[in-house]
Amino acid sequence: MTAPRKLHIKSYGCQMNVYDAQRMVDTLAPEGFVETANVDDADLVILNTCHIREKASEKVYSELGKLRVAKAEAAQAGRKMNVVVAGCVAQAEGNEIIRRAPVVDVVVGPQSYHNLPALLKQAKAGGRALDTEFPIEDKFGFLPPPKPAAIRARGISSFVTVQEGCDKFCTFCVVPYTRGSEVSRPVAKIIDDVQRLADNGVHEITLIGQNVNGYHGEGPDGRPWALGTLLYRLAEIPGIARLRYSTSHPRDVEDTLISAHRDLPELMPFVHLPVQSGSDRILAAMNRKHTAEDYRRVIDRFRDARQDIAFTSDFIVGFPGETEEDFAATLALVTQIGYAGAYSFKYSPRPGTPAADLQETVSQADMDERLVRLQNLIDSQQSAFNAATIGRTVDVLFERKARNPGQIVGRTAYLQPAHVMASDDIIGQVLPVTIESVERYSLLGSLASPPVASSPVPPVLQPVRSHTVTGA
Ligand code: 5AD
Ligand code: SF4
Repeated sequence: MTAPRKLHIKSYGCQMNVYDAQRMVDTLAPEGFVETANVDDADLVILNTCHIREKASEKVYSELGKLRVAKAEAAQAGRKMNVVVAGCVAQAEGNEIIRRAPVVDVVVGPQSYHNLPALLKQAKAGGRALDTEFPIEDKFGFLPPPKPAAIRARGISSFVTVQEGCDKFCTFCVVPYTRGSEVSRPVAKIIDDVQRLADNGVHEITLIGQNVNGYHGEGPDGRPWALGTLLYRLAEIPGIARLRYSTSHPRDVEDTLISAHRDLPELMPFVHLPVQSGSDRILAAMNRKHTAEDYRRVIDRFRDARQDIAFTSDFIVGFPGETEEDFAATLALVTQIGYAGAYSFKYSPRPGTPAADLQETVSQADMDERLVRLQNLIDSQQSAFNAATIGRTVDVLFERKARNPGQIVGRTAYLQPAHVMASDDIIGQVLPVTIESVERYSLLGSLASPPVASSPVPPVLQPVRSHTVTGA
């Protein structure tokens, strides 16, 4: 038997990439690869890249510079290290990467991960391989759903892809070009995945897709099911305590999704709903196809259905043409909605997108200044939320041992990490915790004993999450 080969994956960007990394590991497991956290002893290094904002490709080339050294050192020690660039930079700039970076053996786009074993064989035979094809059917929207390799459970919480791609074509965004048009996986496949994960000890599922509430997969009745209908069905699966979904688009919020929030205790009251700007003029230039008022109405529908629901969003500052007045409308929207947190970004032109042809009108200095003002406002909303949890009793799904000995860490409904002193056997359980203090984004508390009903956390006050979310 040959020794296992070691695989190191470095992922950037969105949850889709985190999920894709798992898919690549699963695809390569039958080839004898096992994951390593250490780049230096890896036989195969995969950079799973993100193209959503500026500097993504520079980051990739600087990472490749380091890998050139690691690869040379491995060769000196008589070991061969293969380097793969995957993800959306690979998709968008594959030929350029092959040309500029001889260290790269394989470039593979997100639609082609199932071809990785074959591409690696090609590389082993001395060639370099590039696969960034979109299957031809994709151009007509009939792309067969991606075939995720057998899903293996890794802990208490897991992502499941239900939808890929985006047809919205916001003028600033590369996703419709790098990820292709919207495709939904059939309901039966998703039920199967969730069932299997639940059987393997997973208690929380986050359904992911670039435009997840555009989901319209084929149901067992042969008709397309909306995301809300899918959620009702998944909530029936024994062992699934929590359901989430990301990332949603405000235009695709159907009534079944709203009623799912009203009816399903499993569906967490925490929704990432990017708006990008509070100015109707800028929203139109972004091709968002909704106004600030439309967005406020969507938020109201959610809040009418579930009073403790909380929201996060994405914002872009300095989009071409954005005036101080437009920006003030964004601040006003944030103040009105009261976010749990949000990601805010300076506009960066992405080659190939319609906005890249627009004259940039906002100076870097103004963009920096707007970003700071927006982030300060969002930070103050977030801090108020975290502080408001002190003294409350909230449900926590415990996930793993914390770094501090004796501590177990889990997450609240709003994804705040919560730490308690307890024994390991609470891992996998949802238990009420009385919050005693807050340290930055983390809550500290103790198991409520005897257990009492958790008190809902008011809206407006939620935490920001520490990872990046792509899409919508
Ligand atoms: N410039 C700045 N931010 C962008 N985003 C997407 N494209 C760009 C761009 N060209 C942001 C949007 C999106 C998030 C994932 O990234 O806010 O919702
Ligand atoms: Fe699609 Fe979101 Fe990109 Fe708009 S920002 S094109 S909705 S992925």
